[in-house]
Amino acid sequence: MMLKETLTLSKGVEMPKLALGTWMIDDDKVAEAVKAAVKIGYRHIDTAQAYGNERGVGQGIRDCGVARGQLFVQTKLAAEIKDLDGARAAIDGSLETLGLDYIDLMVIHSPKPWMEFSGEDRFFEGNLAAWTALEEAMEAGKIRAIGVSNFDEADLANLIDNARVKPMINQVLAHIANTPFALIDYCKANGIAVEAYSPIAHGKILDHPGIAEMAAKYGVSVPQLCIRYVLELGLAALPKTANPAHMASNAEVDFEISAEDMAALKAIETISDYGDASVFPVYQKV
Ligand SMILES: NC(=O)c1ccc[n+]([C@@H]2O[C@H](COP(=O)([O-])OP(=O)(O)OC[C@H]3O[C@@H](n4cnc5c(N)ncnc54)[C@H](OP(=O)(O)O)[C@@H]3O)[C@@H](O)[C@H]2O)c1
Repeated sequence: MMLKETLTLSKGVEMPKLALGTWMIDDDKVAEAVKAAVKIGYRHIDTAQAYGNERGVGQGIRDCGVARGQLFVQTKLAAEIKDLDGARAAIDGSLETLGLDYIDLMVIHSPKPWMEFSGEDRFFEGNLAAWTALEEAMEAGKIRAIGVSNFDEADLANLIDNARVKPMINQVLAHIANTPFALIDYCKANGIAVEAYSPIAHGKILDHPGIAEMAAKYGVSVPQLCIRYVLELGLAALPKTANPAHMASNAEVDFEISAEDMAALKAIETISDYGDASVFPVYQKV
């Protein structure tokens, strides 16, 4: 059963491969979503300071009836924080807002502040400062594993070459029709696990005819095919939904996609339009 499978991060931390994404689930609704997901069998929940729902996620974790040690909570240091003291304070802030004694995985949300996402400055110094705060927090037992998100090769190389601890994961945009193959290879070569965010393209490929046809061939839904695709690539998958029926079906992905069909899915053209979601910087790189 996929919900029981894990990826082993460097330093031996076991991370469940399938997580519940919580972006755009309101703080006052997310505790219910977390509890529903845990009841179905999810053990990994992804949140972020920027989502404004860490309080509710923490409440769901505390109230779900499963021991804290069986759960894996991931959050993200806000993209704008690129200094040591600011990062130290924000890490403690997440622990307080979540109401938890420790965080399983904390990642730098983006190498660049969102307002400067398309700029030339890669904030190498600032990312090293934020990373130092994460290293310290891990050494202090506040965080079990540390990583990054939206980092390209150059951003990763900056940490690999200059920091004490290598990033353990990179959480990136990855789905059928938009998979960063070279970046994934680079991460794997450097012992960095990869998590696929927006594995269902933020809901924007649900009606893609070619993908729907292939899903029908396997007798699965488009979201199930999408989730299985990133798992077949060796990535963790973070589908978002607040709907328990969707949570349950998104976890029923124990089928295999043939090598031939994986090749066909890899060849599907890049989607160039994320519709109303295109306002978010992460969808503007295509
Ligand atoms: N690090 C980053 O910068 C970053 C950026 C984006 C996302 N993320 C993370 O990745 C998570 C997932 O990404 P995402 O929220 O962009 O999108 P996603 O998971 O690719 O897609 C979510 C959309 O698909 C729908 N959906 C999910 N399961 C479904 C099902 N079984 N049947 C029909 N529709 C279904 C959801 O609607 P319903 O809610 O109605 O089911 C929602 O509209 C986020 O929540 C967040 O945790 C991280």
